[in-house]
Amino acid sequence: MKLYNLKFKNSLFLAPMSGYTNWPMRIICREFGAELAYTEMISATGLVRNTSNTLKLLERPEKDRPLIAQIFASQPHDAALASRILEDEGFDGIDLNMGCPVKKVVVKGAGAALMKDLDRALSMTEAVISAVDLPVSVKMRAGWDSLSINAGILAELLVKAGIDTIILHPRTRSDMYRGKPRWKLVADIKQTTSVPVVASGDIKTKKDIEYLKKTGADACMIGRAAVGRPWIFKELSEGFYPTLKQRREVMLRHLDFLCSYLGTHKALLYMRKFVSSYVKGLPGAARFRQQACTIESLAELTLKIKAYLDEEAGFM
Ligand SMILES: Cc1cc2nc3c(=O)[nH]c(=O)nc-3n(C[C@H](O)[C@H](O)[C@H](O)COP(=O)(O)O)c2cc1C
Repeated sequence: MKLYNLKFKNSLFLAPMSGYTNWPMRIICREFGAELAYTEMISATGLVRNTSNTLKLLERPEKDRPLIAQIFASQPHDAALASRILEDEGFDGIDLNMGCPVKKVVVKGAGAALMKDLDRALSMTEAVISAVDLPVSVKMRAGWDSLSINAGILAELLVKAGIDTIILHPRTRSDMYRGKPRWKLVADIKQTTSVPVVASGDIKTKKDIEYLKKTGADACMIGRAAVGRPWIFKELSEGFYPTLKQRREVMLRHLDFLCSYLGTHKALLYMRKFVSSYVKGLPGAARFRQQACTIESLAELTLKIKAYLDEEAGFM
């Protein structure tokens, strides 16, 4: 089945994660088999107003494709205008965020708040579909809370409106990221809709993917498990596991890309979010992490990573 007019082999995608999945992480994950990626969520209002923080999220190298731009909005008009800008910017599709549980987003009526206001969710989707020629998807939660699980109802409305793909993170807004995702909802939605469904939420193992395939999911999206473990796509599809030397190379490439994107100072701070996951499970990882996360010079951090992964981790 085609999603966004594209065909996939392993059907493993990188999930959008604000504060993580900028182009450096996307490129690294693609190198290890992520077949599709999404931008971090982009504020439609910020884009329409040309704010610099928002425009920064659009930066990416040519090879960062296929790439779906994800927006969050509370007003259909803003969502439509932003989508047109993103189409002109050369993105391969638009995804509408109806899942973000963060307070500052939902109080404005965006993200998961749309799960409580299906009329607005529908008008927003219709506005975006008529504004662009690109395929449009919606990433939704199961519902607002356990008493209002309505992803199935919303999915049916949006399919009638003409969306290309549904992405389902089957937790409620109240769940935030706690508890088990209700993967069975993927099967329910597959039975009642004609468009592809991408599953998201706690996907980490081959077993998870096999289970989700049985529910009918057309693709799986990996988020947190890819932080500091970008090879997970190749691990799950081909049984690949990196050597220490390969881990070192990936970590250094990630750091190098972050420096190009953010400048050295910001890159060093940003890299701290990834350091512990990159070395998780290796001997001496805790000490390495502690030391690496206080380093303020690029040369020093590069040396530290090399020394740890070339010598210490392998010989301790
Ligand atoms: C730090 C963080 C940031 C996230 N940012 C976004 C976002 O910008 N857009 C979005 O649709 N989902 C976002 N998500 C949700 C993820 O895309 C994904 O649906 C969720 O984390 C469950 O999948 P996982 O267990 O594979 O991480 C975010 C999640 C986390 C943990």
